[in-house]
Amino acid sequence: MKKIQIITLFPEMFEGVLNSSMMWKAQKEKAVEFRIINLRDFGLGPRKQVDDTPYGGGDGMLLMPEPLFGAINDAKNYAKGSKVVLMTPKGQRWKQSEARGWADSSDDYILVCGRYEGYDERILTLVDKQVSVGDYVLTGGELPAMTIIDSIVRLIPGVLGGENSAEIESFSDGETLEFPQYTRPEVFNEMGVPKVLLSGNHAEIAKWRQENSEKAE
Ligand code: ADE
Repeated sequence: MKKIQIITLFPEMFEGVLNSSMMWKAQKEKAVEFRIINLRDFGLGPRKQVDDTPYGGGDGMLLMPEPLFGAINDAKNYAKGSKVVLMTPKGQRWKQSEARGWADSSDDYILVCGRYEGYDERILTLVDKQVSVGDYVLTGGELPAMTIIDSIVRLIPGVLGGENSAEIESFSDGETLEFPQYTRPEVFNEMGVPKVLLSGNHAEIAKWRQENSEKAE
């Protein structure tokens, strides 16, 4: 079972996402185990401090190294050999091919959610990979972490289920974006359904679907 641990200052953000739909099903079927680590638990002193002002001056607060080292080491003890992944807009852009690689591998992961103002650079000594979900800056790594988790978990064998979805996945080695689809009624607000889909000609339908699919990066 793949173990995915998430280090965050906002554990409550994950509750809805990890306990709904596919992610909930994946846990129930023991395809994946999530463990949320509250970075605050590793904060310093009675006030559980996690951030401090930057050396050299400047606005904002940086995540301090001690709480992050503490949390990452705790996660590594829980699942030895886990890959440590930092969510940051400076990271490598996340891709479908990467999601597939992670889903197929037997690796466990520790996702570190940074906060908007940054982190002490020394934490990078513990990080195996930096991941960005796109060229825009979010207030923290939580939404990016949810995004990549979703993209991985749905590809873990047995999670997706349903013959039709499996068929779409295997349409072209799993990296094809879906073709347009229609359900009843045949005409809605004067908008019809492509005739070929009503033809019953499976070869023609397959050809149309292939032509109308997009390749993921
Ligand atoms: N944290 C803030 N913005 C981000 C992004 N675009 N990708 C990953 N982590 C982030």
